[in-house]
Amino acid sequence: MANKHRAEAKVEGLGPGAGSPPPAALRGNYAAAAADFTVPQRMADHGAADHATWRLLYRRQAALLPAQAASAFRAGLAALPFADGVPDFAAASAVLRRATGWVLVAVPGLIPDHAFFAHLAARRFPVTQWLRRPEELDYIVEPDVFHDAFGHVPLLMQPAFADFMAAYGALGALAMAQGALRPLARLYWHLVEFGLIREAGGLRAFGAGILSSAAETRHALQAGVPRLRFDLGRALRTDYEIDRLQPLHFVIDDYAELFAAMAELPRLLPAARDAAPIPPGALLPTDRQV
Ligand SMILES: [Fe+2]
Repeated sequence: MANKHRAEAKVEGLGPGAGSPPPAALRGNYAAAAADFTVPQRMADHGAADHATWRLLYRRQAALLPAQAASAFRAGLAALPFADGVPDFAAASAVLRRATGWVLVAVPGLIPDHAFFAHLAARRFPVTQWLRRPEELDYIVEPDVFHDAFGHVPLLMQPAFADFMAAYGALGALAMAQGALRPLARLYWHLVEFGLIREAGGLRAFGAGILSSAAETRHALQAGVPRLRFDLGRALRTDYEIDRLQPLHFVIDDYAELFAAMAELPRLLPAARDAAPIPPGALLPTDRQV
């Protein structure tokens, strides 16, 4: 089962123009948040049980990474202070800032589109403050600190991917003005959450939705799962389902492809908004399978 990811709720679930999230429906404490939806991290709130849960999740995923994860993800993870427990965001930010100029900011959970995009454009990655409970190791409805930090932050150490994420955030306002949040969310889902890259040793995963989930990690590179050469227009039109293993993945050759694709977005978003969606997992005669 896939987690529900930030792309889904942030870019779609709360909808364009949502002034504030509905606190009653979300787990985090939104009353404590600033106008940009950030909160202090409050490491003291994470007791021994949280750190033990984190280490269990970390060890389980780390064991899967050598055969499944992109080399940039593994290198980024190794450089970050993530192995020993729920990470301190200030310490992680110091490492990340030196690599690519990004920092982490704590948030109560999912935040509205405009705030999410503004953070990304300013190279601030919003990371949920709280950790899942032990009975939620394999499935959680909202993204937590493990998904957000372990899943997303290692690749933000990679310069071209880091540039892409900032450019994506900068285009968020345009997509909202165009009424094109849905295609923008699909791009985030298929690449940021579930993207694959072709490396010298074969296909590897870099998406956070894959690499923060044991089930998705085992599934993504299995035989029989369609893997398509990344095509921006195709990805913008391809619908997805959040509550099942992903039925197909897009494959890039280089993270610079993603940054380059951002130059095409202003032209392609309105076309994708107006086109018929491609159903989840559907294959087209024009697809290039990898
Ligand atoms: Fe995510």
